[in-house]
Amino acid sequence: MIEPGNDDAVSPAHDRTLAVPEEPIANPGLPAHQWRPTDVDPAAEKRAERQIAGMFVLSMVCAVLFVVAYFALEVGDNWDTFLGLGASTAALGTALGGALLFIGVGIIQWARKLMSDHEIVEMRHAAASSQEDREATLEALSLGADESGIGRRPLVRNSLLGAVGLLGLPAVVLLRDLGPTNAQVANAENGTGLQHTIWKKGMRLVRDVVGTPIKASELEIGDLVNAAPEAQFPTEENGYPEIEGVPLQVLKAKGAIIIVKMEPREIKHGEGRENWTVDGVICYSKICTHVGCPISLYERTTHHVLCPCHQSTFDLADSAKVVFGPAHRPLPQLPLAVDEEGYLIAQSDFTEPVGASYWEREKQ
Ligand code: FES
Repeated sequence: MIEPGNDDAVSPAHDRTLAVPEEPIANPGLPAHQWRPTDVDPAAEKRAERQIAGMFVLSMVCAVLFVVAYFALEVGDNWDTFLGLGASTAALGTALGGALLFIGVGIIQWARKLMSDHEIVEMRHAAASSQEDREATLEALSLGADESGIGRRPLVRNSLLGAVGLLGLPAVVLLRDLGPTNAQVANAENGTGLQHTIWKKGMRLVRDVVGTPIKASELEIGDLVNAAPEAQFPTEENGYPEIEGVPLQVLKAKGAIIIVKMEPREIKHGEGRENWTVDGVICYSKICTHVGCPISLYERTTHHVLCPCHQSTFDLADSAKVVFGPAHRPLPQLPLAVDEEGYLIAQSDFTEPVGASYWEREKQ
């Protein structure tokens, strides 16, 4: 009998010797291999063999029971046999399940108790290049260094190192552009901050593209008008300054609005917004609060407006609350009034940032 725990022991059950090549490094201290009882005790081995064969016999019994149940029980007989299952269903399922289960358990036990349990060691092949390759590489490097003169010209070498080192600075500085600066967030003066648009008290709402002002009385129930701030169409008469280039694009993008008219009684005014509409005319930002697509697919019977990008849907009769889709915030509402000539004007800028959410929005 060979004692379990002796690493040099060879299982008498499998009496075989494994040729292990000489180890290039010392054993780091792994525990000695433990032989299983079935490796060192022939009685245990026989017992395991009988248990495993018993599993396979049980599987055969189950398979035969399946066939018997198939012919003996009618489908649909005794529907309340077990958990609402019929006798046939329960018997067929149990028998087939048992046949498969016992084969599986038998195979697992066979692998765990009787199959060979010796450890196999495979030495790693050398990872290093050959000595000749290493010498050739070093020779090429030193030749390159000689020819470049980097060792003889410290001025060139040091200035190059400085230039390469400083090349990382622009990349670090540009990280600042990943977030809004305080100036971008808070610049209300010209509407360029993330918090503000060009809208301000008294500015007229004008039709998009053509720039004509809109009278509240011109609109019919069910109308939706794409509109813009009057400052985008400066004239001598309105006195707004010319804006060009990128600032113009930014202001257009943030100032875009939709105006809809519905029955005044259908509007559910948000808290503090009771006087933000004019005879059922209501105005919202046109920029989706998900990731900023322009919306305008309007269903006049439900007052729902749909963003074509990811199908966020807003209820314009109920403060443009989100009724479907990935957007999390209602469309910002622009407070409306009319001037002495009956044209629609803004009471103020939007009271919250327009467009997609950003991480500092809630802190403002
Ligand atoms: S941008 Fe409108 S739903 Fe995504």
